[in-house]
Amino acid sequence: MQIKHNISLKPYNTFGIDVKAKQFISITSIADLIAVYSAEGTTSKFILGGGSNMLLTRDIDALVMHLNIKGKQIISQTEENVLVKSNTGENWHEFVLWTLENNFGGLENLSLIPGNVGTSPIQNIGAYGIELKDTFHSCEALNLETLDIETFTNGDCKFDYRNSIFKHEAKGKYIILSVVFKLTTKNHVLHTNYGAITSELERMDISTPTIQDVSNAVISIRQSKLPDPKEIGNSGSFFKNPIIAKDAFLKLQDNFPNAPHYVISDQEVKVPAGWLIETAGFKGKTLGNYGVHKKQALVLVNYGGASGNDILNLSKLIQKTVLRLFDITIETEVNII
Ligand code: EPU
Repeated sequence: MQIKHNISLKPYNTFGIDVKAKQFISITSIADLIAVYSAEGTTSKFILGGGSNMLLTRDIDALVMHLNIKGKQIISQTEENVLVKSNTGENWHEFVLWTLENNFGGLENLSLIPGNVGTSPIQNIGAYGIELKDTFHSCEALNLETLDIETFTNGDCKFDYRNSIFKHEAKGKYIILSVVFKLTTKNHVLHTNYGAITSELERMDISTPTIQDVSNAVISIRQSKLPDPKEIGNSGSFFKNPIIAKDAFLKLQDNFPNAPHYVISDQEVKVPAGWLIETAGFKGKTLGNYGVHKKQALVLVNYGGASGNDILNLSKLIQKTVLRLFDITIETEVNII
């Protein structure tokens, strides 16, 4: 294990923000990880996975530990199901492609999401009608106090919309080492009801889709709407879609009868933040080298050379304007560091 000093984190965050790590180490095994935590000293540590859900606004005055533990395997298989395990440092999309190559169903709607497998449970990643929790079986995590490896079942993780125990009680106390998914080997259950998938499959002229077809449709939709972080720095949805009380939604509807929404329960309605931001006039807005994506207002972008604070200030302006215009608070999905 080699500790490097004063390393730029630009290649390690999908926003492409150029801040420095005081110290940087690439962790390639659990033994290395435990060795770093067992070593004497009080150096503060900063855990870095795929860097796809963070906005870096300052240099990191700590030992940045880049989790690069690779490996994936089939654990067990029955006639209809399979348990597959991926270590934390595997790229999410490559892992999804590997499951599809093996004809394992369940993750196809989550194709092309940036980031690594190990961070996927933290925010219960989701897209096109599916969330990670739907196929998540369990994960192993290192308890940073005892250095024991503990198992979290699906129930233990307390998954919710873009939320889990790892954002609350367990925050900062564990490092996720691996994740196990329960997938189907036959009789795959396809989720094609999400509007854009249905129309994309029609466009592809496919009437009886396979899991591979659904994945291709999702990839095509994402590519048409969401910027590729390799070309334009971004962290996907910058904000969460707000869930508001039904009364508040009825008030919104008085002024905006066509406001898109999803009914969550008798009492709650989810409103797409992308619509609120677009209606507030921010979609496609460019301020020098950063701005709001022109095809999806939920995504803030760094065209190159923007600082984390530039983007943070823009996000605050958006939040303030949305609050003023709609009386709705939108929270960031991205972690602000
Ligand atoms: N909309 C607008 N303007 C926009 C964007 C969206 O009016 O600029 C409207 C759309 O017309 C539609 C509604 O908002 O009526 C929903 O839009 P979309 O289907 O694009 O999904 P989203 O709610 O904006 C969520 C996830 C995305 C995920 C998509 C597809 C969150 C915070 N975001 O976006 O996740 O890909 O659904 O399932 O829940 C991510 O988390 O990084 C991410 C990209």
